[in-house]
Amino acid sequence: MTITAQEAEPYIELNGVRKGFKFGTEGISIFSDLNLSIARGDFVAVMGPSGSGKSTLLNILSGIDSPDAGKVRIGKSHLDRMGESARSSWRAHNMGIVFQFYNLLPMLNTAQNVELPLLLKPLTRRQRSARVDTVLDLVGLNGRQKQYPNRMSGGQQQRVGIARAIVADPGLLLCDEPTGDLDRKSANDILEMLGFLNRELNKTIVMVTHDPEAARFARRTLHLDKGTFIEQGMDSQ
Ligand SMILES: Nc1ncnc2c1ncn2[C@@H]1O[C@H](COP(=O)(O)OP(=O)(O)OP(=O)(O)O)[C@@H](O)[C@H]1O
Ligand SMILES: [Mg+2]
Repeated sequence: MTITAQEAEPYIELNGVRKGFKFGTEGISIFSDLNLSIARGDFVAVMGPSGSGKSTLLNILSGIDSPDAGKVRIGKSHLDRMGESARSSWRAHNMGIVFQFYNLLPMLNTAQNVELPLLLKPLTRRQRSARVDTVLDLVGLNGRQKQYPNRMSGGQQQRVGIARAIVADPGLLLCDEPTGDLDRKSANDILEMLGFLNRELNKTIVMVTHDPEAARFARRTLHLDKGTFIEQGMDSQ
């Protein structure tokens, strides 16, 4: 089989990314020259000390934040060349985000929370409802459509969070400490689910985690420290 140039190109590429924050006259530099390549279908864990810029990196990948300089490409899209509203529409159509504290809307039930990303799509109510049922089935929450988030365990709420992240069928999932608020058993269930989505549904996953046990579920672990990545090699294991 011949590999075409397009297949050989990484799915995600950061090149010379610089990012800092200003507070009045003071400022801090988070990245001065950050480079990263991720292949389509990979499952990457990003570890690193608090304040090293892991969430900032996810915000740059999702287009919530933009770098001060450098290139950010995902698939064919050059996020660094887009304005804020183009990035926000791109995000809605191309990625799902899973948060540590689930970010579910308490006044909406499970089905309504999961349905939210579909409201931007040209689908009928019946089509949306069928899609919601399919993903709730996938995350093991069949029959919970009418239940409200505050009546669910942390692990169940995170399943709802994952269902919402995948309901519009994005190629990329960004997860910021998805198991940071869960006990070991619920954490492992969620991590196995992410592994399943990666292996069986070919989702590319970038997951920030403090937990070395969680990182084991990924195919690749990167350590972010002092503005650069160190790949976890065989020697350091
Ligand atoms: N919007 C912002 N304005 C100013 N400073 C910010 C902003 N976002 C992040 N920072 C600063 O940038 C640095 C990196 O923050 P970030 O949240 O990316 O770290 P992190 O690696 O995710 O940490 P943690 O493990 O604690 O979640 C921190 O010093 C933080 O205070
Ligand atoms: Mg963070």
